[in-house]
Amino acid sequence: MGGADYVVHAGAKLPLEIRRFCGPEFRDNEHYLRTAEAEAERIVKRCALPHGGTVLDVGCGQGRLAIGLLRTAPRGSISYLGVDVDRSSVSWCAKHLANKSFRFAHVDVENARYNPTGQLQLEVSPFRFDVPDRSVDLIYAYSVFSHMELKQIEVYLAEFKRVLKQSGTIFLTTFIEDGLDQPFEVNPRGYAVPISGPLHVVRFDRRFWAKTVANAGLRIRELEHGVEANGQSGNYLSHA
Ligand SMILES: C[S@@+](CC[C@H](N)C(=O)[O-])C[C@H]1O[C@@H](n2cnc3c(N)ncnc32)[C@H](O)[C@@H]1O
Repeated sequence: MGGADYVVHAGAKLPLEIRRFCGPEFRDNEHYLRTAEAEAERIVKRCALPHGGTVLDVGCGQGRLAIGLLRTAPRGSISYLGVDVDRSSVSWCAKHLANKSFRFAHVDVENARYNPTGQLQLEVSPFRFDVPDRSVDLIYAYSVFSHMELKQIEVYLAEFKRVLKQSGTIFLTTFIEDGLDQPFEVNPRGYAVPISGPLHVVRFDRRFWAKTVANAGLRIRELEHGVEANGQSGNYLSHA
C-alpha cells in the first residue's frame, strides 16, 4: 500500500526525502525549502527576472526552484516550464506543482545516470526544446551539466542560445577547476566528492569551459568558483 508521495514542511508540499537529488543535505526539509526559496530569490533579484517573465528550468528534478517560486513570487507573475529526463520526477511535479503558468515536460534524452533507457541520443539525434526562439528571460540548470556528457552540453548550450531573449540570463552550475591535465573529465579520481555511479562528477578545465561557452555564442558574465552544492561553480551567462 502506498502512502503519501509528499511531505508538508512549513506549509509547502515537498517531494519525499528519499526522492530528492543533489546530495544528502537536501534530505533535510528545512534545508530543501530554504534553498528552494533562495534559488527563487536568486533568479528574481540577482538575474533580474522581469515581472511577467518566462523561466525555463532545465533538469528541474522534483521542482525545487518551482517550489521556491510558487512560495515567493506573486501568483501569475512568472511563466515557468520545467523539463527533465527523469519521468517520475516530472510526473510528481505535474501532479503537485503544476498550474496555469507552471508546466512540466519530460524530455527523453539518454543519460547514463538519470535516464539510461532514454531514446534520444544527442550525439546522433536532432534536439530542440519545445520553446520558441528568443522567448525565455531566464534559463536555469542547477547541478545538471555536472551530470551530462560533453556533446549533450554543447547541444544544450546551442539550444539555450536559440531560446534566450537578447536581454536574458542563464544561470547554471558546473564543476570547474584551473589548470587540469584534461579539458573535460567524467568521474575524475581523487576529487573532493566521493564518486558514486555513472556521470556523478563531470568536470571542466576553466579555460576549456570558457571556450565551450564562447563556441555557443554565449559569454560568461560572472563565475563564482566553488560556492554551490558539492563545490560546483555558479555561472551567469548572457548572449555574447
Ligand atoms: C542533481 S539533480 C538537480 C535537480 C534540480 N535542478 C535541483 O537543483 O534540485 C540533476 C537533474 O538533472 C536531470 N538531467 C540530467 N540530464 C538531463 C538532461 N539531458 N536534460 C534534462 N534534465 C537532465 C536529472 O534527471 C536530475 O533531475
